[in-house]
Amino acid sequence: MTIERKWWKEEVIYQIYPRSFNDSNGDGIGDIQGIIEKLDYIKNLGVDIIWLSPIYASPNDDNGYDISDYYAIHPEFGTMEEFDLLLKEIHAHGLRLIMDVVFNHSSDEHEWFEKSRASKDNPYRDYYFWKPGENGGPPNNWRSFFGGSAWEYDSTTDEYFLHLFTKKQPDLNWENPKVREEIYKVVRYWLDKGIDGFRMDVIPLISKRLEFADTPLPAFNDVVEQVYSNGPRVHEFINEMYERVLKEYDIMTVGEGPGISTKTGLDYVGHDRGELNMIFHLDHMFLGHGPRGKFDPVHYDWKDIKKIFTDWYDAMGDSGWISIFLDNHDFPRLVSRFGNDEEYRIESAKLLAMLVLTLRGTACIYQGSELGMSNVKFENIEDYRDVETHNYYKEFTESGTSHAEFLKQVHAHGRDNVRTPIQWNKEKHAGFTSGEPWIRVNPNYTEINAEDVLADEDSIYYFYRDLLSFRKREKTLIYGDWKIIPMASDDLFVYERFDANYKILVILNHSDNTHALDLNVDNYSLCFTNVSSSDKNTLLPWEARLLKSMND
Ligand code: GLC
Ligand code: CA
Repeated sequence: MTIERKWWKEEVIYQIYPRSFNDSNGDGIGDIQGIIEKLDYIKNLGVDIIWLSPIYASPNDDNGYDISDYYAIHPEFGTMEEFDLLLKEIHAHGLRLIMDVVFNHSSDEHEWFEKSRASKDNPYRDYYFWKPGENGGPPNNWRSFFGGSAWEYDSTTDEYFLHLFTKKQPDLNWENPKVREEIYKVVRYWLDKGIDGFRMDVIPLISKRLEFADTPLPAFNDVVEQVYSNGPRVHEFINEMYERVLKEYDIMTVGEGPGISTKTGLDYVGHDRGELNMIFHLDHMFLGHGPRGKFDPVHYDWKDIKKIFTDWYDAMGDSGWISIFLDNHDFPRLVSRFGNDEEYRIESAKLLAMLVLTLRGTACIYQGSELGMSNVKFENIEDYRDVETHNYYKEFTESGTSHAEFLKQVHAHGRDNVRTPIQWNKEKHAGFTSGEPWIRVNPNYTEINAEDVLADEDSIYYFYRDLLSFRKREKTLIYGDWKIIPMASDDLFVYERFDANYKILVILNHSDNTHALDLNVDNYSLCFTNVSSSDKNTLLPWEARLLKSMND
């Protein structure tokens, strides 16, 4: 079987978290005009598709992932006219735009929910899930992704409603055909504006297991996979959305996939399924999450990461597609998590760029990775903005974890690590805003900022740019097969992408150690390396090489 050619397999995604990208009017919040100002910067990097985290009207309990009007732009980001201009400018730059849509839940301030909660017998009641309590408590033992019960009591009607995320994010009831009609209308509205696709938030959660039975599973990851995700009607619902709307447009869809495993992946993205083009599986992102989640960490290492890449490559074969990424707005900075953000920050950031851009799948780069931005360590819990961090802070400190111990976990795993403002220059607040930023800037902005990397031709930014332009020419990196070349040391990751014409060999030393390299590469020419002088038979710490040869 040969693999199908599609633009969304060849192009590279750049994720913008609008709040933290660029503030144009000094209110401390990144905005649409701020993005427009930076389109040349994005274009010059060489990415193709902009994924915009939510910019809809929202009370911002979860920074826009709690939508109160799917048809309105949040005033702090701008107006609908400004959005239309942004879309026009993106297309004028030869770029595409995909919007983030959140259909598993809405805000509790959405008018559907306000009507729903008003009485038991109103027409909006079953837009959401309402249940009476059990023995004076919630209807079952389900826990929210952000800590505490997944049910909230509402005294107006003396019932509980379901919220898998915060209590300001009630879950929509997709069983109700009226809800689905409303959602398809929203989808069509944005597609008719001419956008190029969607990133669908937590899409495998939309079909609930309606028995709402207590779960005996202790580990949260297992609960997600077996209880919250992959519900009985999930494929019927996604396929209906595809048949009713999506299939009429030349767009791409990527589903965020908590709970989707290599066993269930193709059910969502198989070419013949009529569902999604690709998913962001979260297997490598959830690595290290212990029974109580990310702030209760367990050990993992590169062996686990490599196994995940291998298993997903095998699971997809030529029949389905995934996105390749190492961070986004929900996880730590890739260089801090998978690299060495101190002594080898630059080398390891480049190595990770090479990894993301050479595996099979649509590469996705999170804003600031191209600058080598790293995690932040605020000492005061008040400096954090993320509702997840605050909810778990309360839960963990109340159950005996010390402030210092919890903050250590936040420094490593908190979502605000990637939500501090983009560091544009060395001026006050890193040039992000002329006012007071909504979240503090990472104090390392004097050493890490766009102005400096743009002035240095050896910088991480240009490494990304050159690799991106190479990737555009080399279809072997898109459609080619993949095989791992076994190495004696676990510190090394060596693999080849190949097709009938070419072989592209990638050699990565993802460690602080120097290694001897015994590999015959006589027929290859070296295209990229991230160190200034390297010896053929030695790999320096975090050295990464890319070589190419004819396949004969
Ligand atoms: C997704 C989003 C995350 C959000 C959650 C609830 O995981 O990426 O930012 O908090 O869904 O919408
Ligand atoms: Ca602003």
